[in-house]
Amino acid sequence: MKIPFFSLERQHQQIRKQLDAAFGQIVLDGNFILDDQVALFEQQYADFHAMRHCASVANGFDALFISLKALGIGVADEVVVPSHTCFATWLAVSRTGATPIPVEVNPTDFTIDVSAISAVCTSRTKAIVPVHLYGHPCAMPKLMEVAKKLNVSVIEDNAQAHGASINGKLTGSWGQLSATSFYPTKNLGALGDGGAILTDDQELYDWIKAYRNYGSVVKDQHKLQGVNSRLDELQAAILNVKLTRLVGWNNARRENAKLYSQILAGVGDLVLPSVGDDSIQPVFHLYVIQTNFRDKLKEFLLAEGIGTAIHYPVPIHLQPAFENLGRKKGSLPIAEKLSQTVLSLPIWPELQHQEIEMVCEKIKKFFAI
Ligand SMILES: Cc1ncc(COP(=O)(O)O)c(C=O)c1O
Repeated sequence: MKIPFFSLERQHQQIRKQLDAAFGQIVLDGNFILDDQVALFEQQYADFHAMRHCASVANGFDALFISLKALGIGVADEVVVPSHTCFATWLAVSRTGATPIPVEVNPTDFTIDVSAISAVCTSRTKAIVPVHLYGHPCAMPKLMEVAKKLNVSVIEDNAQAHGASINGKLTGSWGQLSATSFYPTKNLGALGDGGAILTDDQELYDWIKAYRNYGSVVKDQHKLQGVNSRLDELQAAILNVKLTRLVGWNNARRENAKLYSQILAGVGDLVLPSVGDDSIQPVFHLYVIQTNFRDKLKEFLLAEGIGTAIHYPVPIHLQPAFENLGRKKGSLPIAEKLSQTVLSLPIWPELQHQEIEMVCEKIKKFFAI
């Protein structure tokens, strides 16, 4: 039995009719850019988060970049980011001309260590970008308090946590702005690239709506030198179908995570991810274990037909692209250690319990050898 790290085959078989109908309708209508489906998705995505405004954009990177630009962040500014995250989080900051200032993550839940934020902030710090990594919510109540004290903005990177919550309040609804991605592998994924920004702030929303469309809201009138970053009608129509299933899929991911954690407890040197509690509800975009035998385990599982992945194998501060920041090896030890020990197991919602049991059996076999 082969178990791929990720697959949409079963999901798309289940909703094939709805996807085909949504696609067919757009092809017939012939309106492909900024029309009814985009407007409907923006409304529904904002409502889902109990937020006032949603502006869709072309991808998650743009959602972050445009959010930072909307706050006027640029050259000479500093933005706090987690040391361990997707490359796009840091890149969005540096693309504005600002400097990403890393803060280490908690190795237990992979989210930014809120208690370490104040120490790195200066008069140049303009914002914090907490990332709800792997679907695990950051400690937002505490983080919002710290941000308020420091008088800096918060832009949540919610690309990996659609539907996660803290004290019943969804991730993506805590900061002044939140940015997300609908990359196909995300909990809510399009059939290509897509992204969105949420905010309650009318002024920021108006600016973003113009900026994403060449700085124009009314045809041929440009109040800003904006960009072209629009979600397609086709992608919006697909997302409208998928949004109705998100809660169910997230529940299935949680069940899968629970099963992994039950079976893998105490196996080898494994460190298992935190599964949350009544107040912290992760959505397991990824189920990430830690082991000192990561590369060997990955190889072993592959030979047994089981796909895994590494998020992320090279710490961002050691990527050649960020050499200019001058952060040497050893400067962010937690991020560096995680890059060597993390392994993502298959967690997609349509996985059968017996398939998860099979993955666990193979992992136990590896540690018994
Ligand atoms: C945490 C995080 N931030 C930002 C992004 C960027 O999203 P995109 O690939 O849609 O540009 C991603 C996804 O790739 C992500 O996982």
